Amino acid sequence: MIAIEKVTKTYVSGDVEVKALRGVDLTIQNGEFLSIAGPSGSGKTTLLNIIGCIDTLDSGRILIDGKPVFNLDKDEKALFRRETLGFIFQSYNLIPVLTAYENVAFALNLLDLEDGEVRERTMAILSEVGLEGMENRRPNKLSGGQQQRVAIARALVKNPKIILADEPTANLDSHTGEEILTLMGEMNEKHGTTFIFSTHDKMVMEYAKRLVSLHDGLIQSDVTR
Ligand SMILES: Nc1ncnc2c1ncn2[C@@H]1O[C@H](COP(=O)(O)OP(=O)(O)OP(=O)(O)O)[C@@H](O)[C@H]1O
Ligand SMILES: [Mg+2]
Repeated sequence: MIAIEKVTKTYVSGDVEVKALRGVDLTIQNGEFLSIAGPSGSGKTTLLNIIGCIDTLDSGRILIDGKPVFNLDKDEKALFRRETLGFIFQSYNLIPVLTAYENVAFALNLLDLEDGEVRERTMAILSEVGLEGMENRRPNKLSGGQQQRVAIARALVKNPKIILADEPTANLDSHTGEEILTLMGEMNEKHGTTFIFSTHDKMVMEYAKRLVSLHDGLIQSDVTR
């Protein structure tokens, strides 16, 4: 479970202060498929980055499975991210000189597995996301949707408990976006992975089982279907 309690975050640049989060309370159960919507600047990415231990909060608390992650030091956060979290970004963030296979296997590098297991897990997840036969292509030889599939495989290959996805369909046409969304829904059901999205995409909002809307750094509505 993720417990977010009265979280605030203010960015300061020069003498300008931006209150990105003004006291967010949100509880997310394991295995949820949840979408965070809201206008540009409402705090979606900030919230994802705080859940993902990429950014720090100013006040409040966040506990993941009872662990007060906001209190961890830099190394502990890095370890926690590695063991528990997977990230999917709008721009895929693949390494251009590596093949699809290598981009995914790279995520397992720090886990100290045997070569055989790395190969087995990487091939299995690439096939699950529909990329069988494309393992040896570099990102520039793949379509946007295929690149996003590699990014999903890379996030899933570690078998993380939680996947955080910041606008995962933003660079895809609506048909490909729908395919990617369906794929993530299947992965959520199959692996029990918690998925948390931010999105502007109506289709993603309608597809999610729970839709949280942010407005000006506060939760405006929270609807479960
Ligand atoms: N590093 C930063 N420094 C200063 N201000 C920032 C920083 N990151 C975000 N902000 C500000 O904090 C507010 C929330 O930003 P955030 O990126 O969380 O919004 P968002 O809902 O993800 O928007 P978008 O839909 O455009 O991605 C915005 O006003 C933004 O300008
Ligand atoms: Mg954003």
